[in-house]
Amino acid sequence: MLSKQHKKYVTKANFMLHGGDYNPDQWLDHPDILADDIKLMQLAHTNTFSLGIFAWSALEPEEGVYHFEWLDKVINDIHSYGGKVILATPSGARPAWMSQKYPEVLRVNERREKQLHGGRHNHCFTSPVYREKTQAMNRLLAERYGDHPAIIMWHISNEYGGECHCDYCQEAFRGWLKEKYNEDLKALNDAWWGPFWSHTISDWSQVESPSPIGENAVHGLNLDWRRFVTDQTINFFENEIVPLREISPDIPITTNFMADTFDLIPFQSLDYSKFAKHLDVVSWDAYPAWHNDWESTANLAMKVGFIDDLYRSLKQQPFLLMESTPSLVNWHEVNKAKRPGMHLLASMQMIAHGSDSILYFQWRKSRGSSEKFHGAVVDHDNSSENRVFKEVAEVGKTLEKLGPVVGTNRPADVAIVYDWENNWALNDAQGYGLSSKQYPQTLQQHYRTFWENDIPVDVITKEQDFSNYKLLIVPMLYLVNEETIARLKAFVENGGQLVMTYISGIVNEHDLTYLGGWHHDLQEIFGINPTETDTLYPSDRNYVTFRNKKYELKDYATVIDVHAATTEATYVEDFYANRAAVTSQTFGKGKTYYIGGRLEEKFHEDFYLELITELGIQPVAKVKHGKGVSVQARQAADRDYLFIMNFTEEQQNVTFEKSVTDLVTGETLEGEITLQQYQVRIVAQ
Ligand code: GLA
Ligand code: ZN
Repeated sequence: MLSKQHKKYVTKANFMLHGGDYNPDQWLDHPDILADDIKLMQLAHTNTFSLGIFAWSALEPEEGVYHFEWLDKVINDIHSYGGKVILATPSGARPAWMSQKYPEVLRVNERREKQLHGGRHNHCFTSPVYREKTQAMNRLLAERYGDHPAIIMWHISNEYGGECHCDYCQEAFRGWLKEKYNEDLKALNDAWWGPFWSHTISDWSQVESPSPIGENAVHGLNLDWRRFVTDQTINFFENEIVPLREISPDIPITTNFMADTFDLIPFQSLDYSKFAKHLDVVSWDAYPAWHNDWESTANLAMKVGFIDDLYRSLKQQPFLLMESTPSLVNWHEVNKAKRPGMHLLASMQMIAHGSDSILYFQWRKSRGSSEKFHGAVVDHDNSSENRVFKEVAEVGKTLEKLGPVVGTNRPADVAIVYDWENNWALNDAQGYGLSSKQYPQTLQQHYRTFWENDIPVDVITKEQDFSNYKLLIVPMLYLVNEETIARLKAFVENGGQLVMTYISGIVNEHDLTYLGGWHHDLQEIFGINPTETDTLYPSDRNYVTFRNKKYELKDYATVIDVHAATTEATYVEDFYANRAAVTSQTFGKGKTYYIGGRLEEKFHEDFYLELITELGIQPVAKVKHGKGVSVQARQAADRDYLFIMNFTEEQQNVTFEKSVTDLVTGETLEGEITLQQYQVRIVAQ
C-alpha cells in the first residue's frame, strides 16, 4: 500500500487532469470549429485531451497512405495553450478497407456467425493481420509523437471487451489449454469432469469454445474460456504496446476500464485484476444514472464508491476517471440530465476516492450518428454560456485548487475481496437461486456501512496482500483454491479478523466441489461445518436474533454444525430455528466470523459497527452528519484532504470537531455548517 508519505504521480503531469475525449477527426472540414475548440478549452478550464481514439480512417484512409498532419496541428495547438494530450492507439475501430481486404479481422460470435464490418470494438484478438496492422500503426504514432512534450500518457484502444470464436481463436484456445494442462489430456478431462454426459475428450482438436448451439454445460470449460478471453485480450494489448514501450518507455500506459452500468457493478467479462498488472495506470469510464427512479442518490453514490475503491486498489495508487458525462448520456433507458450541482459533486466523489482526473466523453457533441445527443462540454450551440459549460468550468476551477491532492493515497484498515473468477463460476452454477446470487451487489451491501460511516475501504482481489488490514471481508467466496485458503488462514493466525458468508468455500479453481464436507482448513478456522444451503423463494422470509434484536433474512440460509465456534445469532423460523446463523471463533491471534444468511442492511450496520468499535477502526475524520452525507479523504504526509459530500435532495447539517480550511474558498470552517442539496466542501485538516 502506498503510505501517507509518498505521492505517486501516475501520468507525466502533476496536476489534476480536466478535459476528455476530443474527436477533431470529425471536424477536419471545419477549421473554424477546430479554432473555436482551442478557445473554448481555455474558457472551460480544461487542460488534457484524449486524441485519436477512433481516428484510424483519418490517419490511414487507404492502406499505407498516412495523414498525420491534422493530428500534428491539433496536438501543437493544444500544447501551445499549455494543454496536455493523452494519445490513443486507434484499434477500437478500424477503416472499412481493412475489413474488406482482410476479413479475418472481423469477429465471429458464439453462434459461429461472422460479423460484418460495422460499429466498433468488433475485431478478432488473435488475427495475425490485425495484430500486425495495429502494431504498425502504433509504431508510427510512437515514432512521430513519442517525445512530444504535450503527451503525458498512452490510451490503448478503447474499452476492450467481448470475445471472438473464429478458427484462429479456437486454435489459440487449444494452445492455451495445452500449456495450462501440460499437454496432458487426462488432466483436462479431470478438471472438466469429462465423463459427465459423456463429455470426455479424446483429442485436443475436439475442444471448442462454449456456444449456445454447442457445448455450454461444462463449467470447467466455461471458466477456462473466460480466463482465456482475458489472457488473449491482454496478449493483444501487449502486442499493441510493443513499439510504445520500445520508443517511448517514459510515457505511462493505460486502457479505459468499464463498469456494468445498469446496476453499476464492476465490469464482468474481463478479469481486470489480471489486466491491471499490465498497465501503468488504471482508468475507467463512469456513467452512473444519477436521479434515476429506482434508488436513492446516496445508494447510487455508494455503488460508485465501491467500484472506485476496487479499481484504485488494483494498483494501490491513484487512478484516472477517463470518461464521464458533463450532463447526460445517450444509452441509458432514460437519458436524464445531471441536475445543477450534481456534476461538481459526482466529479469530486471520483477525486475523493482516488482519481487524479475528471475527463469527459466528450469534448464536443458530434453532429451525426448515434452519439449526436450524448452529453458534451460543447453543445451544438457552440456556446460557453450554457448551464453545462458553466458547470464544467466550475469543476475546472475547483480542480485547479486541488493541486496538493494529486498523487495522494487513501490508506485503509478494512478490505473487501472481489474476485472475477468467483463471479463467473457463481453465475454459471446451476443451483441456488438463478437470479438471487447477486455477488457484486452482495459485496456492495457489505461495503455500505463503512461508506456511511466514513471508514475507508480497499476492495482487493484474493491475490493481493491481506496483511495490512485489520478486517478482511470475503462474502460469497464460492470459488476458492487451496492457496487462498492457506492465505486466509495465515491472515487470521497473525491477528486478522475475517468475515465470511454463506455460499463460500464450495468449489476449487476448476469449479469442482470440495469433497468430504467443508474444506478442512475452513472448518478449523471457523470452528463450524456448514452442512446445507437453503435457498428461499423471493417472497419467503426468515429472521435471525442477534443481540436480542430480530433481523430479516431472505434468499439464503446456511444450516451450520457448530464445532468450537461461538453462536452469535440464531435463526427464528423453519427446520433450523434456534440453530446458529452467525458464528465467531478466536483462531491464532485473530478471529473469524461466519454469516450464514442473507440479512437485511440493519444487521450489517449493527454487526459491523460493533466490530469497528472493537477493532478501534477510525473514520477518516470526526465529522458528524446524517445519512446520505459521505466523508472521504485523500491523505498526504502532513494533512488530510476531506471531501464532505451531500448525496441527498435535502439540506444537511455537518459538524466539525476540529477547525478546517476550505481548499476552494480559503475560509476556516468550525462547528456546524449546512450543506445544500448536492453540495460538496473540500477541506484540509
Ligand atoms: C464509452 C466509449 C465512448 C462513448 C461513451 C458514451 O464509454 O468509450 O467512446 O461511446 O461510451 O457514453
Ligand atoms: Zn478470432
